[in-house]
Amino acid sequence: MAKRNIVITGGAGFIGSHVVRLFVNKYPEYNIINLDKLTYAGNLANLKDIEDKPNYKFVKMDICDFEAFYQLMQDEKIDGIIHLAAESHVDRSIKDPFTFAKTNVMGTLSLLQAAKLYWESQPEPYKMVHNYQQSSEPEFIEGNSDSCHIDRLSDQSVDCRFYHISTDEVYGALKMNHPEGIEPPFKTVASSEGHKAYGDEFFYETTKYNPHSPYSASKASSDHFVRAYHDTYGMPTIVTNCSNNYGPYQFPEKLIPLFINNIRHRKPLPVYGKGENVRDWLYVEDHARAIDIIFHNGKIAETYNIGGFNEWKNIDLIKVMIKTVDRILGNPEGHSLDLITYVTDRLGHDARYAIDSTKLQQELGWEPSLQFEEGIEKTVRWYLDNQEWMDNITSGEYEKYYEEMYHSNGKLKTEN
Ligand code: NAD
Ligand code: DAU
Repeated sequence: MAKRNIVITGGAGFIGSHVVRLFVNKYPEYNIINLDKLTYAGNLANLKDIEDKPNYKFVKMDICDFEAFYQLMQDEKIDGIIHLAAESHVDRSIKDPFTFAKTNVMGTLSLLQAAKLYWESQPEPYKMVHNYQQSSEPEFIEGNSDSCHIDRLSDQSVDCRFYHISTDEVYGALKMNHPEGIEPPFKTVASSEGHKAYGDEFFYETTKYNPHSPYSASKASSDHFVRAYHDTYGMPTIVTNCSNNYGPYQFPEKLIPLFINNIRHRKPLPVYGKGENVRDWLYVEDHARAIDIIFHNGKIAETYNIGGFNEWKNIDLIKVMIKTVDRILGNPEGHSLDLITYVTDRLGHDARYAIDSTKLQQELGWEPSLQFEEGIEKTVRWYLDNQEWMDNITSGEYEKYYEEMYHSNGKLKTEN
């Protein structure tokens, strides 16, 4: 296996920490640099188990700092970037869109430009294809470490690539024309057996972008910049769009960890609207595994959708969480159902997301490994067993956030 110097941005966050862990453990010959600003969502405690590994290094840096990143590219001779750093919470984007544009758009552009300048300045092994013609088919060289749309001028060619992690939310919202749910087979080939879909359309790689929230608009914009760097400068880029992730180390502003924590503390569960919105849930380690496969074997300039074939209405998912937490804590069945509190809906709340990841399955052999029942059990147990991790991040700033997001706007009563 070739030696590589890879930057993973946002490695102290939820998904990033799973990707860093996977790469550090699986590729001891790679140098893995975790670049993270450590915003409220970044937490080095997510990586305690690997922080002393010789092939791991943490660098505290803002992705918007072009000079610092360009210097890092030079100092560490970076030949691969897996870009996850972002502002990621839709509710926060509704309150503060500027921060999302700055980090997600300008931050991504800053990384792209620094990588371009550095890779272009390198001798042969790093050279990229120039004068890429949009009308012509790029020449792909298939196979593991050689599958890159860059000039292979010597046997030591390094497969530099800029891999941008994005979201299914860029596609907008799907119609929920089967609110009662329909059984497979769906239009997609790779449907999950025995699981329902709530409409007959899915997000495909070809689906037109139609983002609705400031978060998804900022991610859509960053995706466009990444593709533009390929089409204009020949930068070896890949984009993937994934559905909702769940699992350990997720910041408790997102539905699943927030609700597990609230059930444990007998706090109200703020269900937006009628709880009928549908999300497609994927266990985070399956996403990390897909990122590994795509980083190594994905075709340059391609887009891959990553999803769980696992649609759930929020309210049904919430009931599964309640049942699981109650069972594990030894509460009688149904004990925590009274915590469900319907509150004002999220502005512009997308009705349904459902990814078709058939392309990834057929071209690169990836599919989700965990059934949802197993994944949610593991997840609930992890949060209940790691109360200290949760307590550390739910004090101080988090209390202010919670107050502002759920109490001062009248969603929940303050005495709760
Ligand atoms: P997260 O909010 O848990 O983590 C984001 C990380 O980025 C944090 O460690 C934070 O400190 C870091 N960061 C933020 N701004 C930064 C900056 N300016 N410079 C450097 N670091 C910065 O996010 P997540 O849920 O792990 O999502 C990771 C990526 O995956 C994001 O790009 C997100 O859009 C995408 N994504 C997330 C999901 C999901 O369900 N969570 C699904 C699909 C795609
Ligand atoms: O689809 C991928 C996206 O999934 C990622 O790109 C985002 O980074 C990630 O945050 C997630 O976005 P969602 O908005 O779908 O996730 P969230 O956990 O915030 O909400 C899931 C659903 O639960 C959504 O329909 C809103 C609802 N919800 C959420 C919260 C926080 C509630 O009903 N109450 C809540 O308090």
